[in-house]
Amino acid sequence: MNSYCNDKVVVVTGAGGTLCSAIAIDLAKKGAKVVLVGRTREKLEKVSAAIAAAKGVCRIEPGDVTDEAAVADIAVRVEAEWGPCRFLINGAGGNNVKAMPTRLRFCEKDLCVKNNPVNPVNPVQKELPADRGFFDIDMEAFKSVLEINTLGTVIPSRIFGLQMAKAGGGAILNFASMNTYRPLTRVAPYAMSKAAIANWTMFFAQYMAPAKVRVNAVAPGFMVNERSRAYLMTPDGGLSARGEQVMHHTPMGRFGEAEDLLGCVNWLLDDSASAFVTGITVPVDGGFLSSAGV
Ligand SMILES: NC(=O)c1ccc[n+]([C@@H]2O[C@H](COP(=O)([O-])OP(=O)(O)OC[C@H]3O[C@@H](n4cnc5c(N)ncnc54)[C@H](OP(=O)(O)O)[C@@H]3O)[C@@H](O)[C@H]2O)c1
Repeated sequence: MNSYCNDKVVVVTGAGGTLCSAIAIDLAKKGAKVVLVGRTREKLEKVSAAIAAAKGVCRIEPGDVTDEAAVADIAVRVEAEWGPCRFLINGAGGNNVKAMPTRLRFCEKDLCVKNNPVNPVNPVQKELPADRGFFDIDMEAFKSVLEINTLGTVIPSRIFGLQMAKAGGGAILNFASMNTYRPLTRVAPYAMSKAAIANWTMFFAQYMAPAKVRVNAVAPGFMVNERSRAYLMTPDGGLSARGEQVMHHTPMGRFGEAEDLLGCVNWLLDDSASAFVTGITVPVDGGFLSSAGV
């Protein structure tokens, strides 16, 4: 098959998820040998079955990307049996509801009324149970979100980036977010860590340039996945209040689909298309960032 990734080893973390399953299947259809990484074997098996149905090649390597020893084990096994990793997609990431206040803005118990008597309650906030403010959230949950979304990218990048450098080059693709640019309400550690991804992408790009390893990121707009469905949609498939706010700020008037990322992902991985591109974060967002919503 005549494609930039034909017969090349591609490691996809978060491969059982909404966005990276589609990316893994697309790369396998292009002839890549795809390593599916995630914590839940069953999710990876579904993607593996889709790849097999498309006559692609993949292997399942369950593991936690924040566990350096586990990722190193995967790297050793894959290199011994398939050769060095040429492309790495750092898709594993996520949030934790325990790290999210249920209130949008400061409204801590009686302090809210004392400090802000005029407009203590945001209209959307009224719809949320007012049981947990920022000052009540669990710091261990906060730290876990920082860890998966930052070290969960750094650890595979160190391990597979070194493999790429030794083999003569490669490309790494990270996952940023609209939170990279401005924090959305209620998701502080997720937003912090996605801002860090853009910074890390630039750091690692300049560091790895002499090794012919390019490092870039995509920043998806709002794409419904299992987790976000609950807060963007109503049970009957309509828009929740938050979903309506997102749509109001999305000039293209729809949520994104995993397939909307494929052109950008392939461009950033393919040396023949983006050989001089490194260290950038590309929004794929239906215009969300360009819209002030007014
Ligand atoms: N969907 C969106 O609108 C959107 C927007 C902007 C950015 N993003 C980012 O895009 C990436 C993919 O998002 P998605 O929508 O496809 O999310 P998703 O459907 O939740 O998939 C994420 C995958 O990451 C895996 N994962 C989580 N923690 C992991 C860990 N410690 N080690 C290994 N795997 C882990 C999860 O599988 P296990 O739980 O089985 O491990 C899950 O399958 C994420 O980085 C996300 O933050 C998504």
